[in-house]
Amino acid sequence: MRLDEYASLSVEELGSIVKGFKKSKNAVILGHNYQVPEVQMLADHLGDSLRLAQLATETDAELIVLCGVRFMAESAAILNPGKKVIIPSLEAGCPMADMATPGQVEVERRAHPDAVVVSYVNTSAEVKAVSDVCCTSANAVQVVEAVDADEIIFVPDRNLGAYVASKTNKRIILWEGHCYVHDMFGPEDIELARGEHPGVPIVVHPECPPVVIAEADFVASTGGMMKLAAEHDELIVGTEIGLVERMNREYPDRNFYPLSAFAVCRNMKMTDLPRLAFALEHEQHVIEVPEETRVCAERALVRMLEMSSGLERPSS
Ligand code: 13P
Ligand code: SF4
Repeated sequence: MRLDEYASLSVEELGSIVKGFKKSKNAVILGHNYQVPEVQMLADHLGDSLRLAQLATETDAELIVLCGVRFMAESAAILNPGKKVIIPSLEAGCPMADMATPGQVEVERRAHPDAVVVSYVNTSAEVKAVSDVCCTSANAVQVVEAVDADEIIFVPDRNLGAYVASKTNKRIILWEGHCYVHDMFGPEDIELARGEHPGVPIVVHPECPPVVIAEADFVASTGGMMKLAAEHDELIVGTEIGLVERMNREYPDRNFYPLSAFAVCRNMKMTDLPRLAFALEHEQHVIEVPEETRVCAERALVRMLEMSSGLERPSS
């Protein structure tokens, strides 16, 4: 079927088509917590970037469908050279991942010869390939603490880098990248939310600006936020609204409030049910990483996974 034909079907029809393809093609759907609810509900596993990377190494499925943004599908492809990894929307990139190039990383490396390069997974395969180790928002502090160096070039999120710097004695060289969704949170959002929901704790993502992090009660990855949701009847959540939708769906008797209803990642919303069904039928769009790049990027990702093996895994 064509994409426009899928677009004319109901959610129920698309749901049963997706389930049928999943079975006949031995496919697994891995979805990020920011996906639209209809896609979240069809995913076999939902998770943060760390969990999705771990799941990609654990699955027996022959076809991995990554509902998220491109760097997540690339990570799955890097970790699974023998498998087909597809992404329903090729346009679903992460603008922050485009804020670092391999050439810029090499320039920084030459300027700081004793430093190691720790790259957030929100980077291209090419940047991972010139990095020493990767990290996610769930393990950034542990990875930086574990590397054998006192000086770290932290690529590309300056807010996450500043958060890590506040938790370690190591010298963190910050990069000028940011996430347009999290960088827009301000102290006024915290003040407003505390006024509207007095006494309710606030959790924010470490991609938020330091002034916001300073005012919050907890800082966590989206997987860490789901763990907090299991422990609290009410929570104000400073991240993309897809995660708040997941919390309210999975805990209908509790209340989770978005710190801002405007926190929407347009890139994460580029995946919808018609595109998911089309992707499964036609096994598109395949994510391939050139072998030389893949091998180097895999080293940085595997190092991260090894350093994270002691971390408690968020449920999926
Ligand atoms: P998590 O790994 O915390 O899910 O974050 C991914 C991301 O893109 C945040 O903007
Ligand atoms: Fe990238 Fe921000 Fe969207 Fe995450 S929320 S995928 S960091 S743009």
